[in-house]
Amino acid sequence: QQEEELKARIKQRLKEENAVIVAHYYTAPAIQALAEETGGCVSDSLEMARFGHDHPADTLVVAGVKFMGETAKILTPQKRVLMPTLEATCSLDLGCPIDEFSAFCDQHPDRTVVVYANTSAAVKARADWVVTSSIALDVAEHLAANGEKIIWAPDRHLGDYVRRKSGADILMWDGACIVHEEFKARGIADLKKVYPDAAVLVHPESPAAVLELADRVGSTTQIIRAAQEMDNERFIVATDQGIFYKLQQQAPGKEFIIAPTAGNGATCRSCANCPWMAMNELESLAAVFDRTDNEVFVDPSVGEQAMVPLRRMLDFAA
Ligand code: 13P
Ligand code: SF4
Repeated sequence: QQEEELKARIKQRLKEENAVIVAHYYTAPAIQALAEETGGCVSDSLEMARFGHDHPADTLVVAGVKFMGETAKILTPQKRVLMPTLEATCSLDLGCPIDEFSAFCDQHPDRTVVVYANTSAAVKARADWVVTSSIALDVAEHLAANGEKIIWAPDRHLGDYVRRKSGADILMWDGACIVHEEFKARGIADLKKVYPDAAVLVHPESPAAVLELADRVGSTTQIIRAAQEMDNERFIVATDQGIFYKLQQQAPGKEFIIAPTAGNGATCRSCANCPWMAMNELESLAAVFDRTDNEVFVDPSVGEQAMVPLRRMLDFAA
């Protein structure tokens, strides 16, 4: 009952404010369903950026983490960008402070600076390229083919994966995602003994030993696509459990098992759940237009600089 009231209130306020929800696959099922019902989007971080940029709404309500709100603001500075809470951040963003990162880049002026979308606006402004997981490998291959040497930040697991696949000359920043880093290769191998028919789908923020066991490695959208395309009836999934809502919707009848975060193959209901994505709740969404502490602002000069590699990302992915 209370949930229905909250949803009705959100729908009404979205209309009044000419606003649209831009949600990530890791948010709660109720938020993803509401975004879909109200003409918003539920997608990976690349498509969130594109949707927010292309949609005519005056206000974007970004249900995700802060870098997603900042990306939306940089790409559309004229729009109002609100978030259920600005405290929803990301361990990769936190692990790459601009002062240290900028000094690191200054020490290696011969290298092209490639940063993951999971970074602050200031870090993006210092970069030549911004990538999301869905195009990270393609961009690295493109740069390697041109003989460019790369600084890669902040995710060392994604960077390692890209280096192994592309052969690019990469100097790595030492960051990690606290969610994906927890998946255990031994636990997945044990689970495979119980379900030998299951295919393993892995997000590239996971450790190398986990990636080695993968039948497919990819961004959240690529994981969903793999589940639709592959003939398997059962999948072991190494990414945030929020994605199960979309997996079940897009590949009905198939079974999805969360990859273990313990070495003994035991799966855990509360694991693999990003604590910052979980801050997006129906309550905070219902209050999103009435608060004064949840609008995303980006310094205009930082935004202008960050727009350059972000546009490069969108053009490359087009
Ligand atoms: P995607 O770009 O694959 O949606 O990943 C974003 C993210 O934060 C993964 O942890
Ligand atoms: Fe960041 Fe990891 Fe959460 Fe994604 S799942 S937002 S990379 S902490």
